[in-house]
Amino acid sequence: MQFELTVNGERRRVDEDPQTPLLWVLRDSLHLTGSKYGCGKAQCGACTVHLEGRPVRSCSVPVASVGSRRIETIEAATGSPAGPEARALTRAWVDGNVPQCGFCQSGQIMSAIALLRERPNPSDQDIDRAMSGNICRCATYSRIRAGIHTAAASLRSGAA
Ligand code: FES
Ligand code: FES
Repeated sequence: MQFELTVNGERRRVDEDPQTPLLWVLRDSLHLTGSKYGCGKAQCGACTVHLEGRPVRSCSVPVASVGSRRIETIEAATGSPAGPEARALTRAWVDGNVPQCGFCQSGQIMSAIALLRERPNPSDQDIDRAMSGNICRCATYSRIRAGIHTAAASLRSGAA
């Protein structure tokens, strides 16, 4: 069945089984491989993308349910030109050496972007709540939290 999706600001036509998870459409059909497969059960967050600006687990979103909603992936969020939240976060990630193996990090960044758009000055509890669905097997959680605080501070100061 044919679907017309809005992915990273472009209209993309795909031919898929309606139940195909959005993650596989992005990775296999559209070759956007920044979103990762971890669990396939909405449990790890590695596949996080934005749907109408909200983070979703794309492994558990059937392509038929997307409709005309805007999809944004890590490629556009941190590409050129990146939004201010993504710029601040990627700088903080690099400066704070946040990633270890890196596998979970595109999902972490997508959740963190959504958090900072909603809460420019998040508390530790806000961060823990927003990031609780993003698992890191390398346990980089304290660096992720510090990176989000750094990015939020730089956004508030106008440095990002
Ligand atoms: S692969 Fe989607 S949440 Fe784990
Ligand atoms: S950096 Fe390795 S899983 Fe998160």
